Amino acid sequence: MEGFAGKVCVITGAGSGIGQALAIELARSGALLAISDIDTEGLAKTEEQVKAIGAPVKADRLNVAEREAFALYADAVVKHFGKVNQIYNNAGIAFTGDLEVSQFKDIERVMDVDFWGVVNGTKVFLPHLIASGDGHVVNVSSIFGLFAVPSQSAYNAAKFAVRGFTEALRQEMKLAGHPVKVTTVHPGGIKTNIVRNSTAAADIDSAGLNKLFDKGALTTPERAAQIILESVRKGHARVLVGPDAKIVDVIVRITGSGAYQGLLAAIAGRVLPRLS
Ligand SMILES: NC(=O)c1ccc[n+]([C@@H]2O[C@H](COP(=O)([O-])OP(=O)(O)OC[C@H]3O[C@@H](n4cnc5c(N)ncnc54)[C@H](O)[C@@H]3O)[C@@H](O)[C@H]2O)c1
Repeated sequence: MEGFAGKVCVITGAGSGIGQALAIELARSGALLAISDIDTEGLAKTEEQVKAIGAPVKADRLNVAEREAFALYADAVVKHFGKVNQIYNNAGIAFTGDLEVSQFKDIERVMDVDFWGVVNGTKVFLPHLIASGDGHVVNVSSIFGLFAVPSQSAYNAAKFAVRGFTEALRQEMKLAGHPVKVTTVHPGGIKTNIVRNSTAAADIDSAGLNKLFDKGALTTPERAAQIILESVRKGHARVLVGPDAKIVDVIVRITGSGAYQGLLAAIAGRVLPRLS
């Protein structure tokens, strides 16, 4: 894809799924890559594929929830490549469970990775993105950042927060006249390990949940990466990834929040697999 040659791109959660596909597509497009993940095995696989394409790559274990480590990592990336143009705050985890049966630690874990991980990455890299003269922040939210569903209060909270955070930042960069574009990404169901890697409350049938997700996820991570990068190239404010994301966005906007909640509660009540 055009527009990425020579750009230094940072990708979190690059050991699997969307992050891995972004790394490979960016490598093919001539970018230089700083990839990281908490899962070093997955990361090594991505590194191998990116190297085979011939892209310069720096691969590091990084937990995005660890703010101090993230700050040190940003310095190390800038020292290694001399600049940073783009950050893809992609790392994320899922949790399924009604609030009534969820623990505080379940909610905190999701917020720590899915919200604070994005804030940490954006904040520590922002001065470098501004200094590059051609920066871009790409923050991965979800369609669950556009509407809420039962059993996803923690994930919904984190993904709505990422959306608000990122949309505010986009306006701040414009007002300040900084050379930094900002894009929020809202994927629909993407065929990745997100649900298989996820945790759930005690009453949720995890095997049933995996099956439901495998049936419902319509878009491959490779296609998702292409859609995201096309929007990044064009500097879009937000990108809806997959036909399900586009349809749901329209339904929510047409019906308004009261009506969509009634509709989704009825559907979720029937399809969410629970242990009886
Ligand atoms: N797959 C979907 O249907 C879907 C839909 C909407 C949004 N998303 C979002 O897309 C992003 C990528 O998810 P994916 O679907 O590729 O899932 P995935 O599980 O395949 O990949 C996520 C990666 O993030 C890494 N990770 C998890 N916690 C981390 C941490 N604390 N620090 C660093 N890395 C960590 C995992 O090890 C994994 O490699 C996530 O933010 C997710 O919420 C996914």
